[in-house]
Amino acid sequence: MTTPVEHAGHRTVGTIACVAPNEFTVMLDTDAPASTALNAGYPAPFPRINGYVLVPNEVGSIVCLIAWLGIENAPYPKRLGLKDFGLVDLPYPVRKMKVLPVATLRRIDTDDATWEVERGVRLFPTVGDAVLLPTREELRHIVEGRGVDARVQIGTAPLAGNARIAVDPDKLFGRHLAVLGNTGSGKSCSVAGVIRWSLEAAAVERELQGRPKLPNARFIVLDPNGEYSRTFADAACPTRLFRVEPEAGVSEALVVPAWLWNTEEWTSFSRAQPGAQRPLLIQALRGLRAGAALMVPATRQVRRFVVGHRLAFAQWQAAGASTMQFAEKIGCGKRLEVMEVDLQALIQASGLEQGVTDALTDLKASVTAIYGKRSSLSKGVRYFNDFADADLVELIGKLDKISGFLPQQDESKGENADRPLPFDADHLPDYLEAVAGQEGGAGAQFVPYLCIRLRTMLSDPLLRSVVNPAGAVTLAGWLKDLLADGAAGQVSVIDLSLVPSDVLHVVIAVLARATFEALQRHRRITKQALPTVLVLEEAHTFVHRARSEEESLSSPEHMCRRTFERIAREGRKFGLGLLVSSQRPSELSPTVLAQCNTFLLHRIVNDRDQELVQRLVPDNLGGLLSELPTLPTRHAILLGWATPVPVLVEMRDLPKDHRPDAGDPGFWQKWCEPDDPQFTWQPVADAWQGIEPNGNTCQDTDSEPTPDAP
Ligand SMILES: Nc1ncnc2c1ncn2[C@@H]1O[C@H](COP(=O)(O)OP(=O)(O)OP(=O)(O)O)[C@@H](O)[C@H]1O
Ligand SMILES: [Mg+2]
Repeated sequence: MTTPVEHAGHRTVGTIACVAPNEFTVMLDTDAPASTALNAGYPAPFPRINGYVLVPNEVGSIVCLIAWLGIENAPYPKRLGLKDFGLVDLPYPVRKMKVLPVATLRRIDTDDATWEVERGVRLFPTVGDAVLLPTREELRHIVEGRGVDARVQIGTAPLAGNARIAVDPDKLFGRHLAVLGNTGSGKSCSVAGVIRWSLEAAAVERELQGRPKLPNARFIVLDPNGEYSRTFADAACPTRLFRVEPEAGVSEALVVPAWLWNTEEWTSFSRAQPGAQRPLLIQALRGLRAGAALMVPATRQVRRFVVGHRLAFAQWQAAGASTMQFAEKIGCGKRLEVMEVDLQALIQASGLEQGVTDALTDLKASVTAIYGKRSSLSKGVRYFNDFADADLVELIGKLDKISGFLPQQDESKGENADRPLPFDADHLPDYLEAVAGQEGGAGAQFVPYLCIRLRTMLSDPLLRSVVNPAGAVTLAGWLKDLLADGAAGQVSVIDLSLVPSDVLHVVIAVLARATFEALQRHRRITKQALPTVLVLEEAHTFVHRARSEEESLSSPEHMCRRTFERIAREGRKFGLGLLVSSQRPSELSPTVLAQCNTFLLHRIVNDRDQELVQRLVPDNLGGLLSELPTLPTRHAILLGWATPVPVLVEMRDLPKDHRPDAGDPGFWQKWCEPDDPQFTWQPVADAWQGIEPNGNTCQDTDSEPTPDAP
């Protein structure tokens, strides 16, 4: 039997020739194996780039990663045995390697051959120290981590005898993970795999403990290309798919109600200018939320009604009714329609003084009369003829009369403009006009433009279904849909592919911010974090680095980036981890990347991206990343907090059904498959134009079509 020291002697392959804190040069022995090493106790390929060697010292061994291998001419050969002094030594080719010290392997139990891997190096070697090949057990300890916590297997290490590489999910998700690589390098599969393997591992653990299998895990996948719709369909954790225009039984409607948006999100969406428009917008939001908080007493509603409509009529009257453009006439007619319906409701509302109800009834009679006089119906389309100044004066007069009965008070004080209290977004433009009319000042003249933007948004059926859906949505219900109530968690896949670009950044920012705040509040109330992972596929599309001066501080892109930067900085404290995946790391927000503590780096060919990645990782690992351009698909370098030593991983195989559907085009297959004589563009055109299969238009004839509908 050989002693450990003798055994180590057999494994020696060279000696340290040069020591720098970040790199050692090793002179390989002339008899060190070249391709297959038998001296490690098993036939092992002699370490290649990114393989490991050990430098023993008093506390165990320094684990080194091979960064360079080569042959250099040395003046004297390293000869074993007695030197023959009669000979003149000629330059002699010596094999050398450069290795990076990455960790320390400490033997904690001599009998039981157990080791512990510690990040970093405590004692540096000196020139002449032996360099050893690791044994199979040592290799396993190096790449497999510390056993107990490494619970989720993500792949194997081809350079370490195919040892299984498992990670601690607390470390992987707790301090944000970045998955970076070129297109087609396997990022999406790795992201889907890491989620799936984590859920499967948790389910096994729960079963062992005699608990129901479904893990209490929460993942929110922000999926800009709609790749993940089927990925988790069968996973051990229930999945809910949210999308615009949902398919019955498969997906649910994506809802991000407008009342959930905070003032920053509203400001960026409406492009309200900080000086004049923003204060008015905030005041209007505050007022609407205050109304919601107080359950809107009827007098408040009347007041809003009067102020909002009066402002519009006063503007038309000031310019003269004869100058009203076609669109304004339509606007006026529609306003009368809305007024008639609202007046009916207000007249029947309880709690109003008799004088107010009478004045409302009087106004309703005028509205009905003017509407009847000025509108005509032709082939199902309603037209409006010229309104007269007298019509406008009559309406304004009657609105003023109602106003006279109402107590004058300011309802816009006292409520927090950011508190997510539900209000009907349809009221915002009117109410904003009312506030502007009341306040006057420089902001008021910009308000019509703002209101047009808001009204356009609310009249687009696609946008409306997201921001102001028909059914009542409560905050608790919304959070339950996204983050699941009860014991079992869920994977929520948010398919962003059809979200109109107008609101894309706001929708993403609201989803992320609301999740963050919900977890923050949850922790404050329960004193416990609710671990949740927010997955950002193609993250460069919504958290890209600032694009110089032309991007204004209140733009949606800027606001969205700020939200994620905040989550990257503070999310950890509240159990919110980020999983950022991107093919263009150099375009990602540097703050978000800098906060990622674990990196899974796939093939990266582009120079700028490589440079950026090299800057992100600790200095001495720069060399290791030289392999990035040549990594095959499914291979990646895992480094950072979740792994004690950087390791080249071959990711576990993900069966076809479980892979994200990247929709790689199958040109050849299409070219060669049997012809389809039934093919026409009609269904596409119909769906695009909102025409149902039976030939009807989906929108009612009165509502305006989307400006973008072809
Ligand atoms: N773990 C894996 N198991 C099985 N196949 C894989 C795995 N990783 C990658 N692949 C293969 O590589 C292909 C590309 O992977 P993937 O779609 O994940 O790349 P990507 O980096 O996300 O590309 P893009 O940037 O274009 O989205 C997959 O379609 C699949 O065939
Ligand atoms: Mg992808």
